Amino acid sequence: MIDFRSLTDEFKTPLYIYDLDYMTEQYNKLKEAFKGRKSIVAYAVKANSNLSVVQHFAKLGSGADCVSIGEVRRALKAGVPAYKIIFSGVGKSDDEIREAIEKDILYINVESEAELGRVEMIAKELGRVSRISIRVNPNIDPKTHPYISTGLHDNKFGVDLNSAKRMYIMANNSAHLDPVGIHFHIGSQLTELTPIRESAEIVADLVRSLATIKIDLKFFDIGGGLGIRYDDETLIEPYDYAQAILGCLTALDLTILCEPGRFLTANAGYFVSKVLYEKQNGEKKFVVVDGAMNDLLRPALYKAYHKIEAITESQGEKRAVDIVGPVCESGDFFAKDYPLPALNHNDLIVVHSAGAYGFGMGSNYNTRGRSAEVALQGGTAKLIRRRENFEDLIALEEAYLD
Ligand code: LLP
Repeated sequence: MIDFRSLTDEFKTPLYIYDLDYMTEQYNKLKEAFKGRKSIVAYAVKANSNLSVVQHFAKLGSGADCVSIGEVRRALKAGVPAYKIIFSGVGKSDDEIREAIEKDILYINVESEAELGRVEMIAKELGRVSRISIRVNPNIDPKTHPYISTGLHDNKFGVDLNSAKRMYIMANNSAHLDPVGIHFHIGSQLTELTPIRESAEIVADLVRSLATIKIDLKFFDIGGGLGIRYDDETLIEPYDYAQAILGCLTALDLTILCEPGRFLTANAGYFVSKVLYEKQNGEKKFVVVDGAMNDLLRPALYKAYHKIEAITESQGEKRAVDIVGPVCESGDFFAKDYPLPALNHNDLIVVHSAGAYGFGMGSNYNTRGRSAEVALQGGTAKLIRRRENFEDLIALEEAYLD
C-alpha cells in the first residue's frame, strides 16, 4: 500500500509517483515469456523518459526504443549500451541521423524510401556503414483508439511490403548500409492478439522472401503496444503474445526485439492532486483539484479513462462529479460523472495508471510548472525530478528582455 498522504506531505502536489518494483515485475514477465529465445526488451523511452526510470530498466538489462536524438542521449546517459538502442520515427533530421550513426547504436529504423536515401548519404559522408531496419506497415487494423493506431496505410508510419522489399534490395547493394532488422508496430494499448499475429505472419513472410535473395536479417522487431488494464479490459497475456510471435518464426533464426512502453510503466504510476474545492453549476457538480491537463493530458486528448481514488475522511454517499483542474479550457478534466463522496479542501485525488504518457506529455500551459516526480523502491521514496518553479519557466526568455 502506498501512503499517498505522507508522500504528498513531503513532496507536495501535484505529484507523480512511480513504483519501480512494479516496473521490475512487468519487465521480468515479458523477459520470461520469451525465455529460451534470443530476445531484447527495448523500453520505449517516450512512455516515461525520466532518467531514473530509464536507468532502472537499463540496470535490468533493457535496451531502449527512441524516437528522437534527445531520447537516444537520455538512454545513453541512463546507462543503456549503444548496442541495445534503436532509433525510430517518421521524421529524423540529418543531424539526428548523423549523431545516431556516430554513436553506433544497434540500428536506425527507417520509415520511408526518402529517409533511406538520407541515411545512406550521411553514412557515406561519415565514411561509415549504418545498420538499418525497415518499418513495415502491414495494413492491419489493430482495433484500438484511432489516435494510437499506426499499422494501417492511412497512418503515416512505415512503408508497404513492396516498397520495403525494394528498400532492402537497395540497402543490401549499398556500401554504406547494412540491413539487419525488420520492424512493425501497429498501435498502442492493444488488447487483441489476432492483429498482432497477422502482422507478424505478414512480416515473417517478407523475411523469408528476402532470405531467398540472400538478404539475411538478424532482428525481428515486433514494436510495442501491449495493452494494460485502465478499467476492466481483457488483456493479452505475455506468454500468449510470445507464443503467437514465435509461432510465425518457425525455421527462422532471429533475435526478437520488443519495444514495450505502457506495459512496463503505466500501472506503476500515480498522479496525485489536492482538492481545492467543490462547486456546482446548476445540476452539475465539480471537484476542482490542483493538478491539470498540463500535467496529465490523456483524458483531455483521448477521452481516456483513468481510475480515480479519493483519499478522504468523508463518509458521504457517492455522487457523480466532474474532476477538473485550474487550466482555462473546458477540456481540462480527469474524469466526467465519476462517483465520489463529498470532498473537503486538502483531500487527495489519486489518478491511477499514470506512469505511461503522463508526465512526458505534460506542458507549461498557463505558466504552470510541471509536477515533481518521485520513485518508490523497496519501501523508500526518492525525488527523481524536482518541481518546476517560476524561474525555470522563464529562464530561456529572460535573457532576451530589453
Ligand atoms: N514502438 C513504437 C514504434 C511506438 O511508436 C510506440 C508508441 C511504442 C513502441 C510503445 O508503445 P506502447 O508499448 O507504449 O504501447 N500517447 C499515447 C500513446 C502513443 C504511443 C506512441 N507510440 C497514449 O497516451 O495512449
